[in-house]
Amino acid sequence: MEKVNIILVGFGRVGRAFFDLIKEKYDYCRKNYDLYLELRGILREKGSILLTSTRKVLSPAYFATEDLDSLADWVSAISLDDLLEEFDKGVVVDCTPTNISTGEPSYSIMKKALEKGWHVVTASKGALVLKSAELRELARSKNLMIKASGATAAALPTLDLGLYALAGAEILAIEGILNGTCNYILTRMAEGLTYKKALEEAQHKGIAEPNPSYDVEGWDTAVKMVLIANQLLGTDIKLSEVTVRGIKGINKEVVEKAQRLGKTLKLFGKCYRENYELPWKVEVGLALLDHNHPLSQVNGSNKGIIFYTDTMGWIAVMGGKSNPRGAAAALLKDIINIYRKNQ
Ligand SMILES: NC(=O)c1ccc[n+]([C@@H]2O[C@H](COP(=O)([O-])OP(=O)(O)OC[C@H]3O[C@@H](n4cnc5c(N)ncnc54)[C@H](OP(=O)(O)O)[C@@H]3O)[C@@H](O)[C@H]2O)c1
Repeated sequence: MEKVNIILVGFGRVGRAFFDLIKEKYDYCRKNYDLYLELRGILREKGSILLTSTRKVLSPAYFATEDLDSLADWVSAISLDDLLEEFDKGVVVDCTPTNISTGEPSYSIMKKALEKGWHVVTASKGALVLKSAELRELARSKNLMIKASGATAAALPTLDLGLYALAGAEILAIEGILNGTCNYILTRMAEGLTYKKALEEAQHKGIAEPNPSYDVEGWDTAVKMVLIANQLLGTDIKLSEVTVRGIKGINKEVVEKAQRLGKTLKLFGKCYRENYELPWKVEVGLALLDHNHPLSQVNGSNKGIIFYTDTMGWIAVMGGKSNPRGAAAALLKDIINIYRKNQ
């Protein structure tokens, strides 16, 4: 039996989904992995909360109020340092916003956690896309892990597939449909909608953000591809080196032309090199896929990734929930994989 102390930072859509999932899966993880996932504290911008254990939040008395925001336990006096000092080491779960210009607040949170001897599991992409080498070196020097499934297409296994399932095989190239919003818009346009209508529909369904620029301009795909490439290929590709072309405002005629050619239009992130002598490149842009391409069947808000290898041929996975619960499930998976005994 192992107690795993957890500090959750960020209590927005993903943080709350993770909070709910920990409650839902507490007994499942105890029975199946012999892990007691103990939520010790939650931090957000507006305040923080100190918990004695997950049991406390599981008790019906604690949830006499359904409104988590109005829980009397929220205070402003508890900092991340306080929580890191208060408990034995464990894992910090980072669900703070992604900022690809500064990497904050994630960078400071991750650095502090690692320096104090805690593992890090993150859904946030900014710190890793800017300071991956530094943070991973810090983790290595302390024998700790940084896991980022939640930041690299969430429920779709991308890093895990490359790290574990392809062990021993050399990755020759990677292609991915990594953004649910773009794929949903392109799918609906292929069914006859204009870009504007498809985007509005995606926003109405909660698939697209009210401000969709980061997704439709291709940056989300670029960031995920850089994170995947840098961890799996040992590269240090910077976002500024990536050619990024999104789908913003794409004309209906382009989609119709693809259909006339018998092809499917997808927003693709690609990582490849022309030959062994040349450096790896990451590109994001529209790709015309033949119907026999494994990822041509990835429709709606689904995502997919394909790895081309030297010994295993190509391997593709697709699907995986593109929502906060899917992201929370990826965070939980990373925690289990850090601590499980039956590796
Ligand atoms: N939404 C998804 O489906 C999804 C999927 C995969 C990955 N992600 C990634 O997951 C992360 C979280 O996304 P989200 O949709 O949950 O965001 P969100 O709803 O905007 O929530 C962000 C949370 O972070 C807190 N926060 C902001 N600055 C902070 C700081 N300095 N210290 C502590 N907490 C701070 C906010 O505090 P307050 O509550 O006080 O405002 C809020 O609780 C993002 O990096 C996103 O890219 C999201």
